[in-house]
Amino acid sequence: MNLSKKDFLCIRDFSTEELKEILSLSRKQKPLAREFKLEPTHPGRVLGCIFHKASLRTRISFEVAIRQLGGSSLYLTDKEIGIGSREAPKDVGEVLSRYVDAIMIRTFDQKMVQELAENSKIPVINGLTDLLHPCQIMGDILTIIEHRGSIEGLKIVFIGDGNNVSRSWLNAAARFPFKLVLTSPSGYKIDDSYLEEVKKDGDPDYEWIEDPSEAARGADVIYADVWTSMGQEAEKAERLNKFKSYQVNDRLMKLAKNDALFMHCLPAHRGEEVTDSVIDSANSVVYDEAENRLHIQRAIIALLIPTDRKL
Ligand code: CP
Ligand code: NVA
Repeated sequence: MNLSKKDFLCIRDFSTEELKEILSLSRKQKPLAREFKLEPTHPGRVLGCIFHKASLRTRISFEVAIRQLGGSSLYLTDKEIGIGSREAPKDVGEVLSRYVDAIMIRTFDQKMVQELAENSKIPVINGLTDLLHPCQIMGDILTIIEHRGSIEGLKIVFIGDGNNVSRSWLNAAARFPFKLVLTSPSGYKIDDSYLEEVKKDGDPDYEWIEDPSEAARGADVIYADVWTSMGQEAEKAERLNKFKSYQVNDRLMKLAKNDALFMHCLPAHRGEEVTDSVIDSANSVVYDEAENRLHIQRAIIALLIPTDRKL
């Protein structure tokens, strides 16, 4: 990969070959990391981690990942920085570029992340916005490859909202040859304008199906996310009502292939979008997904933050 300043804001910012390179490095490094045998390829490098929303996986996996490469991290909330309120994204990007070697940001507005990236001399990584969650889906693809050998030709059924996670799956479908089905109430599809944008830049095998049972038939992967994402709390009661027939339970899993994987980005609202019986079943790989956030993000930062060392 060209190591000149490159951001990781959206899966479609990368070619299939580049995405495969990230996956390949993460697979190479994973066993080494587990045995504490990783080379510290990025000594002294600092990752600034900005969080405007809560996190367990993203925060800890990024902070651990940079340490495993020999670097360190800073955890920054909006109380310290005030991007867009205390200070313009341009000035924040310019100043942070003088102190740290990369920025990971979790916030609400994708445009603000883009503005920060455009005004930074260092790589900016999207750790989730209202629009997208690209690192999640890269870790999920790694998980599918580990369990199924390849993602090619699989039927992946996303049961739930046309949200940041499902949009990122759509972006992945524009780069990898698998079938993506989203099943949701009609008011919660991926918006047509976003679908058109993705189609300009790829040819995703994508279908929206309103009926969850029809959608789940023959699936290789059943994927769920919360019905109410961070920032949508005021809509919770309405969403609980509209999505109630979209719960992933034993009846729905039976419609998928016998060995279908159950996946969820977590955090899960057990008893809402998924039952305990499914998330705790032998088909569930949710903790593998959580672990793979660490391995995929370590590969992303290793490739994006310049180093003279061999990866
Ligand atoms: N899946 C995920 O991004 O988890 P966190 O919100 O805990 O970071
Ligand atoms: N769609 C969820 C994903 C959490 C990782 C949210 O945005 O809250």
